[in-house]
Amino acid sequence: MRDDDTTPSVAAAMLGWYDIHARELPWRVSPEDRAAGVMPDPYRVWLSEIMLQQTTVAAVKDYFHRFTSRWPTVQALAAAEDGDVMGEWAGLGYYARARNLLKCARVVTTEHDGLFPSDRARLLKLPGIGPYTAAAIGAIAFDRPETVVDGNIERVMARLHDVQTPLPAAKPELTALAEAHTPAARPGDYAQSLMDLGATICTPRGPVCALCPLNSGCLAHANGTAAELPRKTPKAPKPTRHGTAYLARRADGAWLLERRPDRGLLGGMLGWPGTDWAEAAPEPAPPANADWQPIAGEVRHTFTHFHLILRIEVARLDGSEPVTRGEYLPPDTFRPSDLPTVMRKAFDLARHHPVLG
Ligand code: ADE
Repeated sequence: MRDDDTTPSVAAAMLGWYDIHARELPWRVSPEDRAAGVMPDPYRVWLSEIMLQQTTVAAVKDYFHRFTSRWPTVQALAAAEDGDVMGEWAGLGYYARARNLLKCARVVTTEHDGLFPSDRARLLKLPGIGPYTAAAIGAIAFDRPETVVDGNIERVMARLHDVQTPLPAAKPELTALAEAHTPAARPGDYAQSLMDLGATICTPRGPVCALCPLNSGCLAHANGTAAELPRKTPKAPKPTRHGTAYLARRADGAWLLERRPDRGLLGGMLGWPGTDWAEAAPEPAPPANADWQPIAGEVRHTFTHFHLILRIEVARLDGSEPVTRGEYLPPDTFRPSDLPTVMRKAFDLARHHPVLG
């Protein structure tokens, strides 16, 4: 489909569709309200875009509500304790996002008077804001004509133009196509319309082409290839790593937990002391001398680059033994919901073991 004077443009078709079918989302200003001049709150747009990276709208909604109730402004978030923010983020994954979120809130508060910059170059200087997020904030929060390209939009472009090149090699081509369609008017609504189309109609499997506002100009629809696109270069299989986590409880009910270093996987998150995670069985690394008992079953969890099989050992400590790692958290300060999912799974598997009772 070409955007010229003779064919209705992709943008016109998308905006007409969005005016009727826009999803109601907690960070979104409806097209009706936008037309009446209401602008979105850049803080909420930024927060939603960080949360939505590699994460579905359904998974994000409750987190978004909790964050914005607890920290309604960027200044409030900037003033939060690191551990509180990491705890609220627990379960959402990709924890570097939460560490950068807090850094970004502090930079915006101290260096930008609490106001998000609107231009791409200054947005890109902020922690955790890359090309995608800078474009999304520019378009959605400030209505700048930025081209937003996420996985949904790549799929829409691949189908619209029947692009056979597999991802990731196709990325530059799909970005160029997306740029060619970006309108000067209503770029924020347009970006969100493509996101909604990709989430509800131009879905990865079983696209509902009959309902699509772009179907008359869609080359993949015409050629019968929509459901096969975008093609993807197969990924190398993920290796499996193994480890042991040590869950210990003191006589007074306190749990032995450790805060992981800020860098790396699960950085900054609370967790159980444990061994390295490696493909060959790692060296035992109990955090105290005790009568450690392996428990039945194991935790399985998949990270971006590997599968993990985690064995669990439990012990009762009397509190007098020297502890080489971690700190005791009394039961009234320990919130299982502060744990990242893999550590939460370990807790759920072990919590009813008689040694921890
Ligand atoms: N996915 C990423 N950003 C989004 C947004 N602003 N609205 C809906 N889905 C999205």
